[in-house]
Parts: sequence; C-alpha cells; structure tokens
Amino acid sequence: MKPVLVIGSSNTDMVITVGDLPRSGETVLGNEFKIFAGGKGANQAVAARRAGADVHMIAAVGNDDFGKKAVTALIEEGIDVGNVQTVDAVASGVAMIFVSDAGENCIGVAPGANSKLSADMLRHNEAEFASAGVVLVQLETPMETIVAAAALAAAHDVKFILNPAPAAEIPEKVYAGLFCITPNQSEAELLTGVTVVDKASASQAAHLLLQRGINNVVITMGSQGALLCNADGDFFEEAGTVAVVDTTGAGDTFNGFFAAMVASGKSLQDALAIAVSAASQSVQVAGAIPSIPYLNAGELP
Ligand code: RIB
Repeated sequence: MKPVLVIGSSNTDMVITVGDLPRSGETVLGNEFKIFAGGKGANQAVAARRAGADVHMIAAVGNDDFGKKAVTALIEEGIDVGNVQTVDAVASGVAMIFVSDAGENCIGVAPGANSKLSADMLRHNEAEFASAGVVLVQLETPMETIVAAAALAAAHDVKFILNPAPAAEIPEKVYAGLFCITPNQSEAELLTGVTVVDKASASQAAHLLLQRGINNVVITMGSQGALLCNADGDFFEEAGTVAVVDTTGAGDTFNGFFAAMVASGKSLQDALAIAVSAASQSVQVAGAIPSIPYLNAGELP
C-alpha cells in the first residue's frame, strides 16, 4: 500500500473542561486542565496511522519544548517525520480548547510555526508526492501552501483529499481535478451558501461542489452521519447513537480513516462506513489524539 502523505498543522492542545462554553465577556470556572498533542494535520496523520496506513507528514514546528514533544508523539505513533521542519524564532502552534459537559467545543488556535510551512518546503519534498497513494491536507497552514500541494498532487497524479477546516474560502484552481473534499456542515455552507441541516440540503451543497470539478464530495454531519456524492449518485452513511463525551478531533478521525481506506484500495462507500464508525467511537473519549481508535482493535466494521 502506498503511503498517505499528510500536509498540515501540529499544535499543542490546552484543554479545559467546563459545564457550559463561555459566552463573550464571560468567565466560567472550569474543571480539569489537560495538555495533548493536536492540530488537525497531526490528528489526521495519527488517525490514518491507527487505521493501518503508512503515514508521512510534512509540517513545521518551532524550536521549543512543545514542538519537540509534538514530533516525539508522531514518532511514537510510527509516523515518518523526516520532513517535519523545525523553524527558528517562532513558537510551535498552540490551541486553547474549551469542552463542555455536552461534549461541544470552542477552539482558538495560535498557528505559530504552522504559518511558516511554505510552498517551497513542499516543492523541496516533491519526492514525497511522487511516492504517495493519497495526499491529505487541511486549512491550518497558509493557503498558498495548499495551492502548491494541490498542484504537486496533480503533477504526480496522486489522489488529493482536502478537508476544508477551519472554514475558509478556497481559490477556484484548487477545486479542478480534486479527488475529494470533506467539509462539515458549516464548512459546506461557507463554500456553497447552502445551509446544510439534513440529507437533502447536504446533497444540494455537494452537487454545487461537484459542479466546480471535484470528483467526490463527502459532507460530514456529526451525529447524523456523512454523505458521499459523486457521478455514481448519493450515498448516506448513518452514524449510530453514542454517548458523546468530547467531539474534538472527530472530523480529524474521520478524515484520517477515510484517507487510509482510500489508500488501501477500499471502495469509497466502504471507506465512508469505516470513517463514520471511527469518528463515532472517537467522540466517546476525551481529547483529540487519545480518542482516535485503532482499526485492528476489532471494533470497526
Ligand atoms: O480538530 C481539532 C484540532 O483543531 C485540535 O487538535 C486543535 O489543535 C485544532 O487544530
């Protein structure tokens, strides 16, 4: 199986659990404080690895303790970090996260070194694109880097999966020929203008994205499940009912598992089913990386 190449962020997550998420101007007394390795890129790399893929990561961290610990965490997962750059004079990425009793979260990110992951760094590592089975990218690194990643993946005819999180406008040239885009409901709304609340509105948004030249659209819909839409039609995978502890990183678990299953040659419908199941498991455990399940745990379909 060819590797999954993840290009993206590495953060240190500082998590406080609270009864209710604070509103603007409000101070709330919380409960526990915990620190985890995180970042959408790192979380997705770990998820793909725990789903059985050979994973290579291109990322940037600062020359500080957070960066060193983040890289060590990736190494311990068995991820190839040969192209994770340490950049001087900038702090590693940090995320401040509140998680409520209902499992909802509110996240603020200081990108730090993630903002230094440049298009040139990707071009310098072009060989990684040539050998990858799937390239998986999110939006916590500069947009020009994402544009370069799409171009390099196209040049090497590698499947490019874009998880457009956090939500942002995307240059049109990224869409053409994209293998798959995986927005959640609010991201799909920002990209299409369609308010996604159910299967019908998800389908409407997905078809607008297909019209931009994307081959496959997956809209993740939290506790409802996820919709896959392509030239063969619409396929909806329902999520089972579970007790939600913490939704942080559920989308990352979905994307990492989905990319790993695509790289392994599974059909997109099978990849969708496995990714929805993995994300459902992840919300039952606190923390992003600690909650990511292992495919070989025998609990996934
Ligand atoms: O998707 C969850 C992630 O978003 C967290 O790990 C945090 O670092 C932010 O990037």
